[in-house]
Amino acid sequence: MANKSNTRCDLMLFGALGDLAQRKLFPALYQLERANLLADGSRILAIARTDVDTDAVRSQLREKLTHYVKPEEMDAELADRFLQRVDYLRLDFSEPEGFGALNDWHQQGSGELIVYMATPPSMYGVIARNLRAASCCTENTRVVVEKPIGHDLESSRVINDELGEVFKESQLFRIDHYLGKETVQNLIALRFANNLFASQWDQNHISHVEITVAESVGIEGRWGYFDKAGQIRDMIQNHLLQLLCLIAMDPPSDLSADSIRDEKVKVLKALRRVTPDMMESHVVRGQYTAGTSNGKPVPGYLEEEGANKGSDTETFVALKAEIENWRWSGVPFYIRTGKRLPEKLSQIIIHFKPAPHYIFDPDQKHLANNKLIIRLQPDEGMSLKILTKDQGLDKGMRLRQGPLELTFSETFENDRIPDAYERLLWEVMKGNQYLFVRRDEVEHAWSWVDQVIQNWRDSGAPPKRYAAGTWGPVASIAMITRDGRSWYEDA
Ligand code: BG6
Repeated sequence: MANKSNTRCDLMLFGALGDLAQRKLFPALYQLERANLLADGSRILAIARTDVDTDAVRSQLREKLTHYVKPEEMDAELADRFLQRVDYLRLDFSEPEGFGALNDWHQQGSGELIVYMATPPSMYGVIARNLRAASCCTENTRVVVEKPIGHDLESSRVINDELGEVFKESQLFRIDHYLGKETVQNLIALRFANNLFASQWDQNHISHVEITVAESVGIEGRWGYFDKAGQIRDMIQNHLLQLLCLIAMDPPSDLSADSIRDEKVKVLKALRRVTPDMMESHVVRGQYTAGTSNGKPVPGYLEEEGANKGSDTETFVALKAEIENWRWSGVPFYIRTGKRLPEKLSQIIIHFKPAPHYIFDPDQKHLANNKLIIRLQPDEGMSLKILTKDQGLDKGMRLRQGPLELTFSETFENDRIPDAYERLLWEVMKGNQYLFVRRDEVEHAWSWVDQVIQNWRDSGAPPKRYAAGTWGPVASIAMITRDGRSWYEDA
């Protein structure tokens, strides 16, 4: 996949010694090198506050690459070539004087400038202003920022305003790493390249939709951050609402960033606001207690390292979301996500309505609806449950539900599934914003989520407990059972 004609880039990476950069960004950049997608002359400036030199940073990166890149994908010579692109600059992000050195570095190269802020969002504004003061940026500079963009609508506006003072919206690449996942992008192909589904994708044919993003891990040393966020800010406001938008949006007129994002915004605007009287029936909030994970005992959220014992932050949320528009009226979207659930699993299930007139064995009527299961991770693929006749002389017209199965790793066995950050960095280099979140998307998502958080606050009700290693509080099962449905479990 030689592609040396790519534009040459100068990537300034703020927060280069942090966990995200080391665990995700450098391995992703290494993979781009491996795929021959980094143009000759592209350079990376690792920027952090620590007093070390370039050699020390390169050897630290080499070690981390060995850790985070699969052994069969690690090549020492290639890693050396990649690390030659990396320089290190020690910098206090809040001191404008130091930013002159960034300009000097950029002047020595000839690549398009990309600034990646892998820092806390509170630093975005000051970094942007200091870059401007040092005349580092032009109208072509691309700026990548990570979530969370604020912790509510108001704080997200402050951050967006600060960035907006220096950069135009067309320069900003707000990351939601779920959009970089291959299978998430596949939702667009599935929906808009297959008329079979496109013509069935509405309230006439679909009864309800489930979205589950489950994690088996707990807080993993991130208690300080997580406790201020909780699962609704950490996962629902961004990843799950993005998935919901991709499932629910109308067909965009083309694949351009704004066509797609316009359609997503329409969905967010059509989300029914959750009023206090809907909380009981539409929202479940949980927090894990001690239990087991992969057969081993694990502590509860309040016993994790660094925990504040009185915290009522949620580690699980289940929600029934409703989209008030022509296409989705009357079709609930049940979404749930949590830490310390039995397994890591992200999947979307589209439940189709049964045929209008049923002529088979009445005992089997419950089987008679097709389901499309989209597995985002692990085991990426899709499965369409269809009904066929059970085989055998004695079976008459007994029905059987079986899968039409597409498991990407088996069907396309030679194709490596890239990590989300590889795709996202590559799209930034190409200047394509379609996998990045526009300001109005962030703000509409906050506005909807803020209402739920406000209702929680007003009610003062503590989260419901669930033992680590289970599928969340029983109230989550009750929420969907009340509607005569159940969470899908692969039999
Ligand atoms: C992050 C959240 O955005 O996504 C984490 O902050 C979460 O809490 C992670 O663990 C999940 O991402 P993935 O790609 O492992 O599903």
